[in-house]
Amino acid sequence: MNEKQRLESQQINRENSTDVKSDTNDNLDRLKKLSSDELISKYFQTTYEPPNLKKARSRRKKDVDIHYDFDIPLEMKAVGKGKKFLIRTYGCQMNEHDTEIMAGILTNMGYQSTEDTNDADIILLNTCAIRENAENKVFGEIGHLKPLKLEKPDLIIGVCGCMSQEESVVNRILKKHPFVDLIFGTHNIHRLPTLINEAMFGKEMVVEVWSKEGDIIENLPKVRNGKIKAWVNIMYGCDKFCTYCIVPYTRGKERSRRPEDIIQEVRHLAAQGYKEVTLLGQNVNAYGKDLDIDYGLGDLMNEISKIDIPRIRFTTSHPRDFDDRLIEVLAQGGNLLDHIHLPVQSGSSDILRVMARRYTREDYLDLVKKIRQAMPNATLTTDIIVGFPNETDEQFEETMTLMEEVGFESAYTFIYSPREGTPAAKWEDNIPMEVKKARLQRLNELVNKQSREAMKKYEGKIVKVLVEGESKKDPDVLSGYTERNKLVNFKGPKSIIGNIVEVKVTNAKTWTLDGELIEEAIEVK
Ligand code: 5AD
Ligand code: SF4
Repeated sequence: MNEKQRLESQQINRENSTDVKSDTNDNLDRLKKLSSDELISKYFQTTYEPPNLKKARSRRKKDVDIHYDFDIPLEMKAVGKGKKFLIRTYGCQMNEHDTEIMAGILTNMGYQSTEDTNDADIILLNTCAIRENAENKVFGEIGHLKPLKLEKPDLIIGVCGCMSQEESVVNRILKKHPFVDLIFGTHNIHRLPTLINEAMFGKEMVVEVWSKEGDIIENLPKVRNGKIKAWVNIMYGCDKFCTYCIVPYTRGKERSRRPEDIIQEVRHLAAQGYKEVTLLGQNVNAYGKDLDIDYGLGDLMNEISKIDIPRIRFTTSHPRDFDDRLIEVLAQGGNLLDHIHLPVQSGSSDILRVMARRYTREDYLDLVKKIRQAMPNATLTTDIIVGFPNETDEQFEETMTLMEEVGFESAYTFIYSPREGTPAAKWEDNIPMEVKKARLQRLNELVNKQSREAMKKYEGKIVKVLVEGESKKDPDVLSGYTERNKLVNFKGPKSIIGNIVEVKVTNAKTWTLDGELIEEAIEVK
C-alpha cells in the first residue's frame, strides 16, 4: 500500500493492536458507552465519500495502477492453521468471484473452509446493495449471528462487498450491530490478512472502506468453486451511471485488465481442464475504453476464441456499447456461445431517457435486428425494472410489447428500489406498491409464457450439455447446461460429470428440460 492509498483509506486501527482480545462482552460494553454520533465521527473522519454523482463522474481521468506484487505478510501466513472460514455470498457473479478470491487469501493463511456457522472461526458476509431487499436479508443475517458471537467471543464476523461501500450501512452497523468485528469495502479485499490481524488483536471494530476507485491487483490467489466452469474478470467498475443504480458508486470507475493478463488466465484455466469460462464485468462492452490501446471486447473475444476451451460466455452487456466488431466476432461461433444477456430495463424511450440508458426503444430493436442477422439462432435474455418513478400504464405496456417483439427467452424482472445517493432516489417513488406488484406479475406471466414456448421447441431435439453434477433435487439424475444456457436433467453415469455430452430432449418444462443421454462424450472442439 502506498502512502496515497493510506491517506485515502479510512482505516481505523484498533487502539491497542498488541492487546489480545480477551472478552468480547467487554468490547461490546465499551462500544455501547460511545454515543452513536461519537461512533460515527470516530469512524468517518475526513476521507469517506458517500455516493456523489458529480465527483464520481470526474474520476474517469484518474489513473489506475496495476499491481503484480500481492503477498500475505509473513506474520499472517499461518494464522489460520487449525481454523475455519465461512463466506456467505449475496448478489451477482462478480461477488461470487470476489468470494473465490477471499477464499484464496484465507486458504493461503492456513484457514480451511466450512459450511457450518458453528464450526467457523471467521464468518464473512459478502453483500449486495442493488436493491433494498438484498440489504434487508444481510441485516437479518447479521442479527442471527449475534448469539453465536456472544457464545464465541473469538469468532470474527466481517461484512464486506457492495453494502460496506455505503455510508448509511456502515453507520447502521456501528450503531446497531457493534459486535461486528470488521467492515471492509470492495477495493480493500487484498488487505484482508492485515485487517484480520487488526480484528484479532485490537479492541474495536475495524472499518476500512477506501473511497479510492481501486487499482487492479493481478496476482490475488483464488480458490475456484468447482473445476468445470470458471469466472474471469475482464474489467471492474462501471461509468454508465444509470440513474437508479448504485453499482458505479460501490464498484468504482471502469478499469479494464490488460488483454495479456486475461488471456494468460484463460489459457491457464484451459490447461487445468476447465470447460467453460464466463468473462465478467458490470458493463463488459466498455472493455478496453480506458486502455491506452485501440482494443475492445470484440478483439479480446477473438483472441480468446483461439484458446482450446470449449465454451466462452460473457456478461453483462450494455446495449449502448455493443459494437459491430463484437457482433462480427461472435458470429464466428465455435467456442463463443450465442447466448447474449442484454439488459433493456424498459420498453419506453421516455423511461429509458430518465434512466440515462442512452438508447431508445428503436435503438435497442435495431441492435437486436443486427445481432439476429449475424446470428440467426442467438438466444437473448434481459433484465427489466418495473415501477420506475412516473412510469405510466402506457409506458409499462411498451415494456410488455418489447418483451414480445424481441422474443426474450427469459428475463430477470425487478420492482424499482430507490438507492440512496443515486439521482433517481431524489425523485418521488410515486408508483404505489400494488401497482408495481401488478405490473411485475403481468410481466412475469409473459416471461414464463415466452420461456415455456422457447423450451417447447427443444422437444425431440439433441442438445449438447456440459454435465455439472447431480441434480439438486435427485442424486440419481445428472444436470448441466446447454450452449444456450438451458438447464437439462437426465440419467447417466457419474463418470461423465465434467464432459460435454449429447442429450435428446424428451420433455420441456417452463425453466428446465428433461432428456435422455444419447452419447457418452463428444469431442469438445
Ligand atoms: N431497483 C431495481 N432493480 C435494479 N437493478 C439495478 N438497480 C436497481 C434498482 N435500484 C436491476 C437492473 C440491473 C440488474 C442487475 O438489477 O435491472 O440490470
Ligand atoms: Fe448499473 Fe449496469 Fe447501468 Fe452500470 S450499466 S450503472 S451496472 S445498470
